[in-house]
Amino acid sequence: MKVIRINNQVEGGKKAFELLKAEMENGIKTLGLATGSTPLSFYNELANSELVFSEMTSINLDEYVGLAADNAQSYHHFMQENLFQYKPFKESFLPNGLATDLQAEAKHYDQIIAEHPIDFQILGIGRNGHIGFNEPGTPFDMTTHIVDLTQDTIEANSRFFDSMEEVPKQAISMGIHSIMQSKMVVLMAYGKDKADAINQMINGPISEDLPASVLQNHPNVVVIVDEAAASELD
Ligand code: GLP
Repeated sequence: MKVIRINNQVEGGKKAFELLKAEMENGIKTLGLATGSTPLSFYNELANSELVFSEMTSINLDEYVGLAADNAQSYHHFMQENLFQYKPFKESFLPNGLATDLQAEAKHYDQIIAEHPIDFQILGIGRNGHIGFNEPGTPFDMTTHIVDLTQDTIEANSRFFDSMEEVPKQAISMGIHSIMQSKMVVLMAYGKDKADAINQMINGPISEDLPASVLQNHPNVVVIVDEAAASELD
């Protein structure tokens, strides 16, 4: 894993943007996108750039179960607000969290991923080392699946909701197997809350207890961290 240290989230967004721009010059076709507060500065760079995505496909990692696309807390809405309204793609995919048959929706999403191999995957990381919504204990060979969110994740995500009760308890997430198939991974992390997960991801054992540690097995990962997130690395 290549680790790039930057001073703050704005610089991190610019760094990830430069990496993407270089890959787009090489003709990549499909972006894997993430939500959360971490990629916001990156999306801001994209939105204000000259880059054109109208010939590209985007595939998001995950969506909450039970939230409609127009719900202000849904990841559909997040992507529309922060990126797609400024930079439309040829096609953009997110899992449908309202599907009546969630297992069928997971299968369908795997098909979409198979038809559009991901060239450049953006990732954040949960405080417990989750990627996408692949919580600790998720087998590394999983494809898209329905997840019961951990209490830690529910609490971390409650800041976006009016009350804890409103935070969805389940999500539908791309699996670790699919994330590992992407040709390049750019993982960003900012702040002290992420320091332990970042240290374990890079220096700890490769273990399903810390899902992001699987990235040690991926040949092309760039980790962009600020000093706080990197503070346990030395
Ligand atoms: C959620 C998302 C992840 C994201 C994580 C961290 O669980 N499913 O993709 O990486 O939150 O969020 P944040 O960037 O807000 O810290």
